[in-house]
Amino acid sequence: MSLADRPATLAAFFADDHHRCDDAWGAIEQAIDRRDPAALTALWGTFEQTLRQHLAMEEEVLFPAFEEATGMTGGPTYVMRLEHTQMRAVLGQMASAAVRGDSREVLDQGDTLLMLIQQHNAKEEAMLYPMSEQVLGGMWVGLRDRLQPYVG
Ligand SMILES: [Fe+2]
Repeated sequence: MSLADRPATLAAFFADDHHRCDDAWGAIEQAIDRRDPAALTALWGTFEQTLRQHLAMEEEVLFPAFEEATGMTGGPTYVMRLEHTQMRAVLGQMASAAVRGDSREVLDQGDTLLMLIQQHNAKEEAMLYPMSEQVLGGMWVGLRDRLQPYVG
């Protein structure tokens, strides 16, 4: 899917990508509610890929562009990278549980991950994305082209 079909501005694009991650997690919760282990396995792959792609798009494209444009390397992007590391650690534990088919553990760890994600996303959407829009909005189309490989 071409990223040109997604929301047109930088801030809206990344907020929309947060919602894609939320939706992918919601589908997992529904599969567990339905006691549908086959669906859980398939949906887990989608969720993990969607979230890992989101983190990579930020760390490898958005954050470096923000840091270069503002000269701020120890500011918001530093904090966001630390939080991404925390999120990946929980995600890794969840992946092991998903492979074992341990839906109880997936949900338990999922509660932790969801709490981290909600606090993290709120900060990005209230602060980092608007700041990025200001300093990078004029070069967004070029940046978006660099994100295309992340979604295939
Ligand atoms: Fe994000």
